[in-house]
Amino acid sequence: MPKIDSESGAGDVLDNVTGEVEFRNVEFCYPSRPKNPIFVNFSLHVPAGRSVALVGASGSGKSTVIALLERFYDPSAGEVTLDGVDIRRLRLKWLRAQMGLVSQEPSLFATSIRENILLGKEDATEEEVVAAGKAATATASSPSCRRAMTRRYCGGFLYVCCRARAHVLPSPKSKSNSSFSELNLKTKE
Ligand SMILES: Nc1ncnc2c1ncn2[C@@H]1O[C@H](COP(=O)(O)OP(=O)(O)OP(=O)(O)O)[C@@H](O)[C@H]1O
Ligand SMILES: [Mg+2]
Repeated sequence: MPKIDSESGAGDVLDNVTGEVEFRNVEFCYPSRPKNPIFVNFSLHVPAGRSVALVGASGSGKSTVIALLERFYDPSAGEVTLDGVDIRRLRLKWLRAQMGLVSQEPSLFATSIRENILLGKEDATEEEVVAAGKAATATASSPSCRRAMTRRYCGGFLYVCCRARAHVLPSPKSKSNSSFSELNLKTKE
């Protein structure tokens, strides 16, 4: 049985999540590189409702912060908390449903934009899908947004579509690991 079991129904769920996130004295290394610590005594406090940007050199650990918050991995010491509760105590599917992640290298399926957005929330209404599309593009008018939903996804819409998928989540909490990935590419060149 894997230590992090995404199918497990065990664990608590919180009522009325405010979204306060804290990393407290976290230590972490990737299992494949146990002698290469990514975090030693790392702490970060994100108050509820605040927008935070993690800025740093390529390889400094920004994506790893998100990976720990999503519980793709657990720290070897310290804790990550949501509203003061260690996220290891929370039901994993529920925890991940509280967050919308637009990853650095997002993937979409070769179907309509609507179907791709619905992957963020299977039972979203048409209104929610359109609202998510509008929120992601910031400019789309409602009629043109509705028409766009039926089109097949094409490359240029990659980030817009992935942002919309994150927006359609029931909760307002969303994080992006992508906004500056073009910058990353430049710094890596
Ligand atoms: N799955 C993995 N297995 C082993 N090492 C990894 C893994 N993912 C990342 N790393 C290493 O962990 C360190 C931090 O990587 P991370 O991806 O968090 O950096 P980043 O700040 O997001 O970088 P970038 O700006 O390039 O996105 C790097 O040294 C990286 O090589
Ligand atoms: Mg990264």
